[in-house]
Amino acid sequence: MKSLFTLALGLLSLVSAAPPTVNGTRFSIDGKTGYFAGTNSYWIGFLTKNRDVDTVLDHISSSGLKILRIWGFNDVTRKPASGTVWYQLLSSSGSQINTGADGLQRLDYVVQSAEKRGVKLIINFVNNWSDYGGMPAYVTAFGGSQESWYTNSRAQAQYKAYIAAVVNRYINSSAVFAWELANEPRCKGCSTDVIYKWATDISAYIRSLDCNHMITLGDEGFGLPGATSYPYQTSEGVDFVKNLAIKNLDFGTFHFYPQSWGVGNAVGAAWIKDHASACKKAGKPCLFEEYGTSTDHCTIERPWQQASLQAATEGMAADLFWQWGDNLSTGQTHNDGNTIYYGSADATCLITEHVRAINSL
Ligand SMILES: *[C@@H]1O[C@H](CO)[C@@H](O)[C@H](O)[C@H]1NC(C)=O
Ligand SMILES: *[C@@H]1O[C@H](CO)[C@@H](O)[C@H](O)[C@H]1NC(C)=O
Ligand SMILES: *[C@@H]1O[C@H](CO)[C@@H](O)[C@H](O)[C@H]1NC(C)=O
Ligand SMILES: *[C@@H]1O[C@H](CO)[C@@H](O)[C@H](O)[C@H]1NC(C)=O
Repeated sequence: MKSLFTLALGLLSLVSAAPPTVNGTRFSIDGKTGYFAGTNSYWIGFLTKNRDVDTVLDHISSSGLKILRIWGFNDVTRKPASGTVWYQLLSSSGSQINTGADGLQRLDYVVQSAEKRGVKLIINFVNNWSDYGGMPAYVTAFGGSQESWYTNSRAQAQYKAYIAAVVNRYINSSAVFAWELANEPRCKGCSTDVIYKWATDISAYIRSLDCNHMITLGDEGFGLPGATSYPYQTSEGVDFVKNLAIKNLDFGTFHFYPQSWGVGNAVGAAWIKDHASACKKAGKPCLFEEYGTSTDHCTIERPWQQASLQAATEGMAADLFWQWGDNLSTGQTHNDGNTIYYGSADATCLITEHVRAINSL
C-alpha cells in the first residue's frame, strides 16, 4: 500500500509538473484538456503589498478562472523615486534591469502566489502603447520611430536581453502559461512582413531559451478574411493568418473593442467565428485574449463569451475578459470603464455563469 501510495504521489507530481501545452486546437492545463476562462490584470505586478497580490489571486482562483494575463514589463527612461515599481531602465548610455525590491521581485511574488493557487500566467514583454514605457520608451532611448522599433538593432538587443532575464527567472515555474511577445503590436502602414519577420525572429529566440513553455504574439487579431471593416484589414501591419503560421508561435490571440474600432457590438460573434476557423485551419488554438465595453458589460459581452464557448471544438480554446477589478488595501483597482469587479453583478454574469457553462460542457 505504502509503495502504491508513493507511486501515486510520484505520478501526481509528474502530471502537475507538466507545463500547460497545446493539444490540437485546445489547451491542456495540469492534465486537463478543455476550454478555459481567465482575465487580465496589467497592474498586479506593480502592487507593493504581498497581501494585495494574494487577495487578487485568491479571488481569481476561487472564481474558477484559470488563466491570468499580466504585464511582465515596466519600462522607464528615468529612474523613478524609490517606492515606485519599475523593471527596466532604457538608456543609450547603458540600460538596467531592476532585480531589486521595487523591481522584478514584485513580479516574483505574483509568480509565487499564482504557483500556490494553480493560476497560470501569460507574461508579456513590451507594450505597443506608452503605458509602462512600451515601444515609445525604447524609441526615446534608442531613436527611430514606432514603426522602426521592430528593426532597430539597439532596441531589439535590449528587448532580447530583457526577455532573457524574465524567461530565465521563471523558466521552472509551474505558473507559466505562455510567454507573449508584446501587447497589441502594431506597425501602421507597414508591410505585414515587418511584424511577421520580427515575430519569427523573437519567437525562435524565446524557444532557444525555453523549449517547455508556449509562446504567443499578443496581437489584436487584425487582418483576416471574412469581412472588410477596419479590424479585418491589414492597415495596422498585422496579418493574423500569416502570423499564425509562424512555427514557434503556439496559438493565436485576438482582442475585441468594438467602440474603439468603430464597429458594432454584434460583430463580435462573427469576429470570434472567423478567428476560430483560421485557427482550426492552422491546427492551433485561438485565445480570445481581451474584450471589453464601457457600458452594459453583461448584456453586450455575455453573447461574445457564448459565441466563443460555442466554438470550443472549432478552434476556440479560452477567453480572458478585460479587466479584473478588486478591492485592495489601497481601495478599488483601476476603473477604465471595462473593469469587472469581483463580487459585482457583472461578475456573476461574466464570471460565475460563464464558468458554470464551461464546467457543464
Ligand atoms: C489531448 O486531448 C485528448 C482528448 O481530447 C486526451 O485524450 C489526451 O490525453 C490529451 N493529451 C494531452 C497531452 O493532454
Ligand atoms: C531551473 O532548473 C534547471 C534544471 O534543474 C536549473 O539548472 C536552473 O538553475 C533552474 N533555474 C532557476 C531560475 O531556478
Ligand atoms: C501603437 O502602434 C501604432 C501603429 O504603429 C502607432 O500608431 C501608435 O502610435 C502606437 N502607440 C504608441 C503609443 O506608440
Ligand atoms: C468594493 O468597494 C466598493 C466601494 O467601496 C463597494 O461598493 C463594493 O461593494 C466593494 N466590493 C466588495 C466585493 O467588497
